[in-house]
Amino acid sequence: MTKTPRTAKAQPTSDPAGAVAPPDTVLIIDFGSQVTQLIARRVREHGVHSEIVPYNKAADARERLNPKAVILSGGPASVSAAGSPRAPDWVFTSGLPVLAICYGQQTTAVQLGGVVEGGHAAEFGRADIEILEKSALFDGVWDVGKRYPVWMSHGDRVTKLPDGFTVKATSENAPFAIASDEKRRIYTTMFHPEVVHTPDGAKLLGNFVRAIAGLPGDWTMKHFRSAEIARIRAQVGASKVICGLSGGVDSTVAAVLIHEAIGDQLTCIYVDHGLMRANESEEVVSLFRGAYNIPLVHVDARQKFVGALAGITDPEHKRKTIGALFIEVFEAEAKKVGGAAFLAQGTLYPDVIESVSFSGGPSVTIKSHHNVGGLPDRMNLKLVEPLRELFKDEVRALGRELGLPQAFVGRHPFPGPGLAIRIPGAITEEKLAILRKADAIYLDEIRKAGLYDTIWQAFAVLLPVRTVGVMGDGRTYDHVCGLRAVTSTDGMTADYFPFPHDVLGRMATRIINEVPGINRVVYDVTSKPPGTIEWE
Ligand code: XMP
Repeated sequence: MTKTPRTAKAQPTSDPAGAVAPPDTVLIIDFGSQVTQLIARRVREHGVHSEIVPYNKAADARERLNPKAVILSGGPASVSAAGSPRAPDWVFTSGLPVLAICYGQQTTAVQLGGVVEGGHAAEFGRADIEILEKSALFDGVWDVGKRYPVWMSHGDRVTKLPDGFTVKATSENAPFAIASDEKRRIYTTMFHPEVVHTPDGAKLLGNFVRAIAGLPGDWTMKHFRSAEIARIRAQVGASKVICGLSGGVDSTVAAVLIHEAIGDQLTCIYVDHGLMRANESEEVVSLFRGAYNIPLVHVDARQKFVGALAGITDPEHKRKTIGALFIEVFEAEAKKVGGAAFLAQGTLYPDVIESVSFSGGPSVTIKSHHNVGGLPDRMNLKLVEPLRELFKDEVRALGRELGLPQAFVGRHPFPGPGLAIRIPGAITEEKLAILRKADAIYLDEIRKAGLYDTIWQAFAVLLPVRTVGVMGDGRTYDHVCGLRAVTSTDGMTADYFPFPHDVLGRMATRIINEVPGINRVVYDVTSKPPGTIEWE
């Protein structure tokens, strides 16, 4: 690993990422849809920069951001309700290309003289649309006369189009599934092109930002790094920031980026809860202190956590116990640092959306994810979350851009509560030690088979079940080890990984031979949904 020199106490005056010209921007006006950030991601995938601005702060966005195109998001409101949100008039008079999605379509219709009505059959989920006429929006993607799957989510619908608009596609419940004014370059869809459930949606967004708006597609993580550094400096000023490190890619990338922005105004706190994998704590400490010279407080709280977890078997109870204790320990250490005004977190976009339902209805807690939630209020800290808009693969790209070694940025995700949620039933030091050994062998075999980077996440689970076996001449009565490996793009859905049988066989043999306490290995072939990735 190369050592990156850092100047102690330095408040950088020049931009270490190098001066980068401001990128051409697509303005995304947000009407409150749960998936607005996905629009930003899809636009980024085409190498185009975007800024999300809430509809009520969009009036002066044209002067501020000089956008080259505008996208109007979906949203939960009904355009016929009094006081419902509207796009600023300049959106339609500026001559800029506009893509209006779902609620965006409805407000566009109303603002340009069309009619929207409620009371029609609501459409949620998959629908098939039929293409009636050509449009630049789906040029080269969809053909006239054919049908394609899309994802709808709406109650109201447009019943009369504004002058200049024609219908390009319909569905059973959406007569204006796509309507556009090709001359004015205003395109409207009743469905959501930004979600993966509209399989060709990303291509439509690509057509919009590249072919229609004519943007070059040269925006990269180098730009993100430089823009985010400027944003962090503006947000934080001369204040101190503390950052909780988990040893994972996200908090590490966040910390390295923030350190690049504000130098030693940042202090990282690593709470070793004793639920880490083999050698993990040592690696974190040497990466931060050795390679990056970032101020790091290393708290050995292993006994405290394992003690507090004694006898707890319910998964939510475990998670809550770890979360509460983590906050307690972290708070005590943070107070010792003294004077911090900000708490940095490696929150990713899926962390933000996973607990809310797609349609914007009441949220459902599947698992209470562990983070330092609750702390910011208690300690009166403001949040710095530089990765909030990014998905895991983008964080990895940013990590590489920041010079982190591939072996580190390519690491599989690891949950905050660590091995505690991979030992169903009560946690003991003995079980943790058994699991660490089995997990290390499993990952070693995956690496040897050259499969580590094709897998999203792989780990061993120690089951609270004993089974009978025979070793040598003796009877054994030991634990079952479950192996889990999944492919995924964002952790929100996943498929089990189809290991070749010989690889599975080798893993099982080694674990049973080399780990006392395990005499049987099983492989988990559940996808998500209906399973989750972790077992608890
Ligand atoms: P599930 O098990 O919900 O996991 O399918 C989805 C992804 O999230 C990780 N995970 C967590 N990450 N704190 C975290 O930081 C947590 O409490 C937590 N629980 C699950 C899991 O490893 C997978 O990558």
